[in-house]
Amino acid sequence: MTQIPRREFLKAGTAAIAGATLSALGLGSITASAEGVAFEKQVFVYTCPVCGKQFSDFEKLKAHFTGNHKELDLPKTVTFIINQVEYDVFVEDHWTLREALVRAIGLTGNAKQMCDRGGCGSCTVLIDGRPALACTTLAVECDGKQIETSEGIAADPEYRPLLEAYVRNDTAQCGYCTPAQFTMAKYILSKYDLNPTEEQIRTELSGNICRCGTYARHVKAIMEAAAEMRGGQ
Ligand code: FES
Ligand code: FES
Repeated sequence: MTQIPRREFLKAGTAAIAGATLSALGLGSITASAEGVAFEKQVFVYTCPVCGKQFSDFEKLKAHFTGNHKELDLPKTVTFIINQVEYDVFVEDHWTLREALVRAIGLTGNAKQMCDRGGCGSCTVLIDGRPALACTTLAVECDGKQIETSEGIAADPEYRPLLEAYVRNDTAQCGYCTPAQFTMAKYILSKYDLNPTEEQIRTELSGNICRCGTYARHVKAIMEAAAEMRGGQ
């Protein structure tokens, strides 16, 4: 049997954990290897809400809809500013923000369908800088609003220490709650000027339920990221 040197085994193990954490965050555009975490430019797509066909821009989607789904009324257009990029998207009046993120933009990180009734926090995004539940917020209410998701936070170089702390502390088990916890982590760091106490972190995360019991890992990751972002103090 081929023996794998312990050092290589540990490197491969770390890469696998990093890959699992990033994939749990819904971060297909960020990859992990034994050498570390690599960022690639994120490509967004416009998805037809009826047939799921994807397009590179809104005008092409509009032309597709009017040409291929003539029997249907053109859906409402709203403008989201998601992770600092502006998007015009089709939404139905009854769609929640969670549905719009998945069906109109193709973002799956924070758009987890867990309880779908405001009880678990797994769909938490930041709307105009404040935490909000995407499953109980109507998409049409978010017209013109700034929305931040785990994908945008993870791609922000300023929050790289947070991403690395999340990977290092193996915060994702099944991964369902992780993007929302990660999004809350950014909110906590910014609300407490990079100096939250463990108690403040626990209180802020109390609405985010983790069935896998990773709570202590989030507190540790946020404390470590805060120290690094303060300059190691
Ligand atoms: S899925 Fe939104 S709070 Fe549970
Ligand atoms: S990691 Fe499984 S629900 Fe939190």
